[in-house]
Amino acid sequence: MTTGYEIIEHTYDVVVVGAGGAGLRATFGMAEKGLKTACLTKVFPTRSHTVAAQGGISAALGNMGEDDWRFHMYDTVKGSDWLGDQDAIEYMCREAIPAVLELEHYGVPFSRTPDGKIYQRAFGGMSTHYGKAQAQRTCAAADKTGHAILHTLYQQALKHHAEFFIEYIALDLIMQDGECRGVLAWRLDDGTLHLFKAQQTVLATGGYGRSYFSCTSAHTVTGDGNAMVLRAGLPLQDMEFVQFHPTGIYGSGCLITEGVRGEGGYLTNSEGERFMERYAPSAKDLASRDVVSRAMTIEINEGRGVGKLKDHIYLHIEHLDPAIIHERLPGIAETSRIFAGVDVTKAPIPVLPTVHYNMGGIPTNYKAEVVTLEGDNPDKVIPGLMAIGEAACVSVHGANRLGSNSLLDLVVFGRSAAIRCAELVQPGSPHKPLNKDACDKALARFDRIRHARGSRSCADIRLAMQRVMQAQAAVFRTAGTLQEGIQSMAEISQSFADVGVKDKSLVWNTDLVETLELENLLAQAQVTINAAGNRTESRGGHAREDFPQRDDVNWMKHTLTWLDNGNVNIAYRPVHMYTLTDDVAVIPPKERVY
Ligand code: FUM
Repeated sequence: MTTGYEIIEHTYDVVVVGAGGAGLRATFGMAEKGLKTACLTKVFPTRSHTVAAQGGISAALGNMGEDDWRFHMYDTVKGSDWLGDQDAIEYMCREAIPAVLELEHYGVPFSRTPDGKIYQRAFGGMSTHYGKAQAQRTCAAADKTGHAILHTLYQQALKHHAEFFIEYIALDLIMQDGECRGVLAWRLDDGTLHLFKAQQTVLATGGYGRSYFSCTSAHTVTGDGNAMVLRAGLPLQDMEFVQFHPTGIYGSGCLITEGVRGEGGYLTNSEGERFMERYAPSAKDLASRDVVSRAMTIEINEGRGVGKLKDHIYLHIEHLDPAIIHERLPGIAETSRIFAGVDVTKAPIPVLPTVHYNMGGIPTNYKAEVVTLEGDNPDKVIPGLMAIGEAACVSVHGANRLGSNSLLDLVVFGRSAAIRCAELVQPGSPHKPLNKDACDKALARFDRIRHARGSRSCADIRLAMQRVMQAQAAVFRTAGTLQEGIQSMAEISQSFADVGVKDKSLVWNTDLVETLELENLLAQAQVTINAAGNRTESRGGHAREDFPQRDDVNWMKHTLTWLDNGNVNIAYRPVHMYTLTDDVAVIPPKERVY
């Protein structure tokens, strides 16, 4: 290797990359099972983006009325617009109950009912008796559920002596003979490079919301694991499905939880009309997010938006008892005051659909193993590599995720990864030898970007990408806007060859961190917009004005996208229409009625 970097080697049974809800649940589950486990994270664990999750975590506990995991499963399949894999959805909805009770026992400070049970609120798309009535299924810790869960999981990880490597930037997977052997990382506080050898490498690196201009994601949400997978020559799945949360604060994009509507909040247009009654007569403001975001966009496009520019919508909770707001929604009252200057007890909150979640990601089975298409086999497991949380596409959310199924996905599949690792890895078993040049490709990329001397700033290229994604891969899409977007994204991606990094040092070089993250985002933006242009139907979060219907004959399939020298290649995997057990019948495609 010509770059002359010294590499410090570490050997673990398992390495988890990312310390959000999924990463921490996996980390301590593995440590608990006697596996020598390292967790690498680019931010301090309790600053991971899970901390921002507000409304809650779904599980059919039945604390607030009758419930059943089969109802939850039905809602999730329907919410996914039938693109979700039903074996994985069954696993998630069944395991939700023990997984959430476990969280309670670990110490998550959930809100309580008067008789001391976990408090559960109404969330969009959650029903009982297969769509007949609104369910109260979302377990909440006021409107700070992610914060409560993340802190508890970190404490559990410390209790089980998992080893943390904090403020380490994961650079690339180390692949050899078609297997993942570990990961190369850069330590920010002293500038050293580290090779983590592992029998299993688990990517828990979150979504890539920051490829858009307005999103609810933290600035760290750059899909680093997804991009490493693309660079390893593996595909991502269903990247065209990007979720817009209906209620981001107008201007800042900060999240206002769906729990607001679960507690009785509602949306109005410039005529003061509760317009959701027209779009979803039964579920109204608690229809699933794709439905509400589309309805809001139509209201604005047809001239019924509010404000001077008629470009947003009002969310009301002024009618709620201030004591309820204080007890159950204190965080959104504060956020609204700071970011919208609104006292929620007196005035509506200005809101707009804002990018919130990526249904697409690294394809996995429900055991968290990464899979790909190989010949006739659509479920070929990549040895040594796992993915969980928003980075993964299991696919439990299909084309649209239901609110509060994300925190659930994190803990259920974090736990599932730990169970699978314990089956696959013998603690302390010897590692296969690594080739001398195993890190060369990863080092060459790092070195190229570190020494880039081009004329374009990272910030300029990032802004260009975010504007194109916001305008051309939006709530509503057409062939025209998407083709324009594909062309622009190709040009913007090429412009990265002319990026310049001013700071050449290795210690706390945020210029280099952001430029590495930008390259990651560009790769994901490119596959997202190409996959969107390719799918000529409307389904879940992918709404084509030129193809307004769902097309089960041609499009009941997952999209796989590879990135090869700037070119996006596409193939497909079948949707799993079968369940894991006979406890539930396979649910056939149906119309989505709200
Ligand atoms: O609205 C919310 O509280 C977000 C929840 C989720 O995305 O699951």
